[in-house]
Amino acid sequence: MESQQMKGKTVVVTGSNSGIGKETAKELARRGARVVMVVRSAERSTDAMQEIIEQSGNQDIHMLIADLSVMGEVRSVAHEFISKFDRLDILVNNAGAVFGERKLTSEGYERTTALNYLAPFLLTHELLDLLIQSSPARIVNVSSGAQSLGRIDIENINYEKDYGTMKAYGTSKLMLTMHTNWLARKLQGTGVTANAAHPGFVNTNFGEKNTGLGMRILLKISRPFQKSPEEGAETPIYVAASSEVKGLSGEFFADRERKDLPDEVKNEELQERLWRTTEELLGTNYDEKLSRLKAATP
Ligand SMILES: NC(=O)c1ccc[n+]([C@@H]2O[C@H](COP(=O)([O-])OP(=O)(O)OC[C@H]3O[C@@H](n4cnc5c(N)ncnc54)[C@H](OP(=O)(O)O)[C@@H]3O)[C@@H](O)[C@H]2O)c1
Repeated sequence: MESQQMKGKTVVVTGSNSGIGKETAKELARRGARVVMVVRSAERSTDAMQEIIEQSGNQDIHMLIADLSVMGEVRSVAHEFISKFDRLDILVNNAGAVFGERKLTSEGYERTTALNYLAPFLLTHELLDLLIQSSPARIVNVSSGAQSLGRIDIENINYEKDYGTMKAYGTSKLMLTMHTNWLARKLQGTGVTANAAHPGFVNTNFGEKNTGLGMRILLKISRPFQKSPEEGAETPIYVAASSEVKGLSGEFFADRERKDLPDEVKNEELQERLWRTTEELLGTNYDEKLSRLKAATP
């Protein structure tokens, strides 16, 4: 790929101080894009930012700070982005984590649901105006094959009952893929696409914090069989930037290929119920926003 082919594009990558997000940010920077890293700790991200600048040869790298499990911070970082940058060509919702125990955030949301599902839902909503103004634009939601372990239970997305580590993680990714498919339909005609990407099983910091000993041992034993972070970033980068993906929307990609969507994800009645519940929780209104934006588009 030509190194400067993304010059003039502005990209946001959440959780880009480590793992898959850092490699995604680095490669998009190498191709010439302006990259805005959304991370939760400046202190822990300065080295990563320096590494991205040095290895990509691109100085146009920026950092914004937010704990994305807190919806108030998702809103503020979106507003900060809008106040500083005038376009958004690619939004990579990559930040995510798995948690050994059920805990609520300061706003009362179960933290897996908050970080892996509600945050990308809300960040995308807040940045939608800029994405549409910058179209053709792409939304890439880093989901997971672990969505096969999930089951959508709309009355229990906060896990008042039956919390399980992988159940909550898998369900958060299933909801994210479902949201992506729903959003893709809503975005038809705007020039903005939305796709989900599974990076594979990747050797990163994933699962190292906030999990029990059993999971950490399991991850350690399986390290030799895992992809490197560079390999793990290949599919998100492909979905974000490849001309082969141009115009495709609502899809789930793994190993740089389109895969079948789980039946649950395609269930439009369930999609609608999940969508309404999430909008009520977050106080968003995608339909209103989209009809205003579509009406304003020449
Ligand atoms: N590794 C895998 O095998 C695998 C497989 C399928 C899908 N995924 C998905 O890939 C994505 C990237 O994960 P990774 O494997 O690269 O793991 P990672 O190295 O742990 O990276 C996760 C990133 O998310 C950030 N993050 C976590 N909690 C956050 C919060 N509250 N606010 C803002 N940022 C937060 C982390 O920041 P800190 O450094 O501050 O924690 C880090 O930058 C995740 O969505 C994960 O679910 C990973």
